Amino acid sequence: MNEAITVRSDKIIERILTLELVRVTERAAVASARLRGRGDEKAADQAAVDAMRRELNKLQIDGTVVIGEGERDEAPMLFIGEKVGNGKGPRVDIAVDPLEGTTLCAKDMPGSIAVMAMAEHGTLLNAPDVYMEKIAIGPGYPEGTVDLDATPEDNIRTLAKAKGVSPNEITALVLDRPRHAELISRVRALGAGIRLITDGDVAGVIFTSKPEDTGIDIYMGIGAAPEGVLAAGALRCVGGQMQGRLILDTPEKRSRAAAMGVKNPKRKYNLLDLASGDVIVAATGVTDGALLSGVRFSKDVIETETVVYRSATGTVRRIKAEHREFEKFHLE
Ligand code: FBP
Repeated sequence: MNEAITVRSDKIIERILTLELVRVTERAAVASARLRGRGDEKAADQAAVDAMRRELNKLQIDGTVVIGEGERDEAPMLFIGEKVGNGKGPRVDIAVDPLEGTTLCAKDMPGSIAVMAMAEHGTLLNAPDVYMEKIAIGPGYPEGTVDLDATPEDNIRTLAKAKGVSPNEITALVLDRPRHAELISRVRALGAGIRLITDGDVAGVIFTSKPEDTGIDIYMGIGAAPEGVLAAGALRCVGGQMQGRLILDTPEKRSRAAAMGVKNPKRKYNLLDLASGDVIVAATGVTDGALLSGVRFSKDVIETETVVYRSATGTVRRIKAEHREFEKFHLE
């Protein structure tokens, strides 16, 4: 049993909804995949948003978007606070990133996904769209092996010791951004490897959950906060460790965060602070990537690959689907 199961096992969210979520991310992925490689990030994102919203509204849930496309005045659809579902099922919170890695999709580069989480009401951190410092490792390590407040060197050394290897056998995944120049050079100076990604750190955090497959031991650095909460939801299901801290470096960001319930702007959130309750996370590949294959179109079939995580049981399902009822995908 992993930590997630022992902490909460009340299975508030009906397991039948697991498959319903898969349908939602599949539709969003197919819609944006039609715009892969067209160089138009906005159009690809909008297609995913429209499809995701349409599918969400078919679900038997009383849902509220807590992580979405933006605040009400800046996003016409899937804005924070928007009600989704037919209002008849369980009261749940919804976190969406209909197209995670918009640039990856627009350039048809590896790693863009359609991703969402459904959680027991009130259990996801309501994160504003600001940056977040994040650190994550997979399951099987003693609690506290890594810490946001420790130096990168200490984190790598402690992790290496816990894994039973030397620091030069550790690989960290970091977003390729100028803000990470110092982090990257310090980790490299210790002898550890860095895998750089241009975008897509929801998958980046999830990669830590299976170092034997991905080669990634640790995620380090700064990415977007909403993506941090989505990744935490997935990690909850496999029992890894994660910490995040919002970067609220202007009065405007602090007041936005306060309006969303953030009392202490410097708070360090642990995995269970980011996603504390029963949660299901689904992600479907848009472009090919290490986590998921992208959508394939052929004459009679559309193929998708989805992974879905359910915290109540720790189950991870991979669903390869062949879709033949094309009209369902043409409702845009
Ligand atoms: P989008 O899909 O919104 O483009 O986000 C992609 C992403 O790479 C996230 O995975 C990551 O958390 C964030 O952008 C990093 O932000 P920035 O590009 O500003 O460094």
